[in-house]
Amino acid sequence: MKGLLLIGGFGTRMRPFTLTTPKALLPVVNIPFIKYQFQLLKKYNVDEIILGVGYKGEEFKKIVDIGKKMGLKVYLSYESKPLGTAGGIRNAYKFLKGKEPFFVFNGDILADFNLEKILNFHKEKNAYVTIGLVKVDNPSAFGLVITDENGKITKFIEKPKSEEIISDTINAGVYVFQPEVLEEIPPDKNVSVEKETFPQILKEGKEMFGYVHYGYWLDVGTIDKFKKANFDVLDGKISLAYQKSERNIDVDSSSNVPGDISVDGKLVVGKNVMVKNGVKIKGKVIVGDDCFVGENCEIENSIIFRKTVIGNNCKIENSIIGSEVIIKDNCYIKNMSLADRSLIYDFTKSGE
Ligand code: GTP
Repeated sequence: MKGLLLIGGFGTRMRPFTLTTPKALLPVVNIPFIKYQFQLLKKYNVDEIILGVGYKGEEFKKIVDIGKKMGLKVYLSYESKPLGTAGGIRNAYKFLKGKEPFFVFNGDILADFNLEKILNFHKEKNAYVTIGLVKVDNPSAFGLVITDENGKITKFIEKPKSEEIISDTINAGVYVFQPEVLEEIPPDKNVSVEKETFPQILKEGKEMFGYVHYGYWLDVGTIDKFKKANFDVLDGKISLAYQKSERNIDVDSSSNVPGDISVDGKLVVGKNVMVKNGVKIKGKVIVGDDCFVGENCEIENSIIFRKTVIGNNCKIENSIIGSEVIIKDNCYIKNMSLADRSLIYDFTKSGE
């Protein structure tokens, strides 16, 4: 079966990291985010994957091979200008046209959707479109989707005001489309599936249904949510790509971490990492491949991307440190998002 991942956005809310790396390739416990989606799709035999790419689209070429190694066929559907979510779907026309329904995913959702159940529901209801829904405590920042008792969608309310919140089900960013839906979207135009295509289909009287997902679901759109995605995976709240270790230190065999470092929480260390003596870890800490952590550093609830060097006696709290960063000795970094290739001089104190 075919599935389209929409991953062409700029990811502005996740700057500075998305200035250098598209959101779908940022690391979640040292594994590119897109691999979590590949695993979910593979699990349900969605083995032909189309990537709707735009911003930094060339970066995804290497992903085709990663997919191949996983037994997936991966195709790139390039947008030379942002076409929006529906425009991105229409742009993949040549890959998706045919007689069979197909899946569409917002590329920044981490979830353990049961794709088999969603597809069966779509077929049973004879739906034109099925939209995966999730229940949230505060739907005000999302698109509210109202259904009747049979799951038939009756109304969409984008970013509802408090008096409009008459339900707690929002669009979860997974859809099943009948192929005819492709014809509803004008080509080469920037069109939003949530704001334009779905309301238009509803107006035409075609049947759309909502399937409520009760498992894990996270919209990884902001830095805080990105941190949460990493920590939730570490905790085993979703078991895709990263296999949760029961030990509180999970170090790749190629890395060098002294046996007596103090870990009051959970530490994951990637490949070819050197950690020196006297290091203290608190809470959840992820260290990417090819990093160096100097003597007597204290790191708490932080994520460190690849090839970063941290000098001696540094303290890092609640921060994300990008790739190829150099932090010299005796620095104190708190609540920061340090861009790739940042250089931090000795005795810097920031973010307090
Ligand atoms: P922000 O700039 O921070 O809002 O992030 P974003 O660019 O990712 O936008 P948003 O979170 O609204 O997008 C949801 C999903 O749709 C993400 O996976 C995006 O990559 C994807 N997306 C957004 N716009 C486009 C587009 O024009 N084309 C394609 N192919 N995908 C898009």
